[in-house]
Amino acid sequence: MEKKNVILMLPELLLILLLASCKHDPDLSALPVNPDPPVPTVGCDPDSVYFANTVFPLIQSSCAMSGCHDAATAREGVVLTDYYRIMITGEVNPGNAGDSKIYEVLSGGGEERMPPSPAQPLTTDQKALIAKWINQGAQNNACTETNCDTLNVTFAGTIMPIIQTNCTGCHSGASPGGGIFLTNYAQVETIATTGQLMGVVKHLTGYQPMPPSGQLSDCQIAQLNKWIANGKPNN
Ligand code: HEC
Repeated sequence: MEKKNVILMLPELLLILLLASCKHDPDLSALPVNPDPPVPTVGCDPDSVYFANTVFPLIQSSCAMSGCHDAATAREGVVLTDYYRIMITGEVNPGNAGDSKIYEVLSGGGEERMPPSPAQPLTTDQKALIAKWINQGAQNNACTETNCDTLNVTFAGTIMPIIQTNCTGCHSGASPGGGIFLTNYAQVETIATTGQLMGVVKHLTGYQPMPPSGQLSDCQIAQLNKWIANGKPNN
């Protein structure tokens, strides 16, 4: 009797194992390696969070770098290099940030927290943006600014958020890119003064293009330019 039970359970067990391994080891080979970015809508809705504008650069700089969740390293099978891989391996549940693995680990504490120490955790604002994007349906969306504000550019309100979303993840922690920290005013001011800031974001010859995953928007570049032209105020 007992023997029969065990035998009956075997196929079930195999099925469960198979399903479990599918969940943790999805077949990513069917996905395009460099999927086309979403076509931007003209004009950004201030109440929406866009994947290409905010979520992707944040994940690129905080999670998808070498040694972590890039295609080559893929820690724990998690590859966060494009929309599809973020959705699948980050276990994003559209409409429900609380039930999405990627948001859980970003907002969790202790050993589970991502990015792990000594990298800085995402700021409260950044975590809220990821949650909002997921709760708005986790779409593969993008927008272009129609009215770029270069008049009211401040360091705290404009420049640092650009740096935090696009640069700080790689330029902080134990081994910042190129040995350059970009976590505060003095550090950003320094690379602005050397000419490196505009050199890397405008892809000028002689500089490494930054961020490596794609150029900042024209509006962001114009805002950085304006801040420097204004004398790099710490405002
Ligand atoms: C995905 C990780 C990553 C992101 C995101 C990133 N960087 Fe870098 N950065 C690096 C690495 C790695 C290096 C060192 C490159 C090398 O020396 O080959 C570097 C080098 C640099 C340098 C020195 C190279 C030079 O040509 O002067 C500057 C300046 C710089 N980054 C600024 C930025 C700025 C500004 C941003 C955001 C707009 C940014 N980085 C985003 C990883 C990153």
